[in-house]
Amino acid sequence: MSSVDSPRESWATRLGFIFAAVGSAVGLGNVWRFPFQVGQEGGGAFLLIYLLFIVLVGFPAMLVEFVAGRYTERNPVGALKQLGTGLWEYVGWIFVVTGFVILSYYSVVAGWTIRYAVLGLQDGYLADVEAAEAQFVSLAVGLEAILLHALFMAVVVTVVAFGVERGIELAVKVLVPAIIVIAVGMAIYAFTLEGAGEAYTYYLAPDLEVLADDWRSIVPAAAGQAFFTLSLGMGVMLTYASYLQEDRNLATDSAIIIGFDTAIAFIVGLIVFPVLFTAGVDPAAPGPGAIFVSLAAAFGDLTLGWLVGAVFFATVAVAALSSAISLLEVLVSYLIDERGIGRVPATVALGGGLFVLGIPSALDLVLLDLFDGFADQILLVLGGLLLSVLVGWRRSDLAITELELGIGDLGPYGDAWIWAVRIPVIAALLVALTLGILGYI
Ligand code: PFF
Ligand code: NA
Repeated sequence: MSSVDSPRESWATRLGFIFAAVGSAVGLGNVWRFPFQVGQEGGGAFLLIYLLFIVLVGFPAMLVEFVAGRYTERNPVGALKQLGTGLWEYVGWIFVVTGFVILSYYSVVAGWTIRYAVLGLQDGYLADVEAAEAQFVSLAVGLEAILLHALFMAVVVTVVAFGVERGIELAVKVLVPAIIVIAVGMAIYAFTLEGAGEAYTYYLAPDLEVLADDWRSIVPAAAGQAFFTLSLGMGVMLTYASYLQEDRNLATDSAIIIGFDTAIAFIVGLIVFPVLFTAGVDPAAPGPGAIFVSLAAAFGDLTLGWLVGAVFFATVAVAALSSAISLLEVLVSYLIDERGIGRVPATVALGGGLFVLGIPSALDLVLLDLFDGFADQILLVLGGLLLSVLVGWRRSDLAITELELGIGDLGPYGDAWIWAVRIPVIAALLVALTLGILGYI
């Protein structure tokens, strides 16, 4: 049955949408990916460009996805078919492919967080940073990593197959505050460390020389991270807004989602770098292991750190779950709406495919890094760019009208938004994409 003749699901409660959107945004992107990107891209220079991308590109781009979803009431493929003609119809496909690639290795990293939660309860954490680094390398790849990836994927599939996402709302209500409380507590601990001063300078004071030398890699990394962390560029926010019936103020909702997401990433940075600097470790060195190495060592150094650490990693695993659910939901909604496949078979088949595609990432960190860089700096940015062109240049009339539902007459702000999308957002994404591709070849 196509979506035209079956009634579409919608959010059960007034706050269901915003909780799910925050649940999707807050995840491994904040806790795992953000600090390691900062480390690899030279600290404060990256933070500055990242924050600019969040505010100047992420915010208008999130509004684009929201209006596209709420207007069409479709999955990304269906939405693009409705909004554009000709080649535009295929843009939705980019979203689906991107989601598939990202979810495959996202699940592997989520498996690591489960392993680290268990590690705290079983053996506690190693306080020595070098030992912690060696431990990460031994835990991150291999059979155990594959099994944990399978376990995580199975949980995601179960939740999405039975459509029990209502539970997300409760999870998010508990989780987001829990992450914030533990992270602030840890940041205060990190403040007392000897290397904190040096770390703050590195993290918070943009080094303009670094920026001048490395902007060719900083810009695409910052753009990709901004899209990844806000769940943009693959139709997640579009799909979630497609289930909206009432007229929410999408501008306020975007600001709330972005505020929480950015705050959490920022605080995690305040923990990771003081720990690494205190131990004398080059912040770029641990790569994808950054939080596992530095946080594990910090927990290893604390009284009852094993318990705080176990709670922290378990919380992050659940945050990763709500993000992974949103990704799988997009893929499933495509198969249900456009292909007429039932929810359970669609979910199980996708879960199997995702498990297989994730195996290389669970066997080799270099491959994981490759998948991650490609999906993030190229696919996500490309999807966001094309959607911005379509909505900004070809469907701007309906975009403004749609945004005004739930807000009221936007007056000049509507035009300001559309012109922001038309020129600076598109230009920034074009530059980031070009640099991303050049960096890849
Ligand atoms: N935003 C999520 C995070 O920061 O962990 C990850 C993610 C979810 C990326 C959904 C992309 C997406 F579509
Ligand atoms: Na995020």
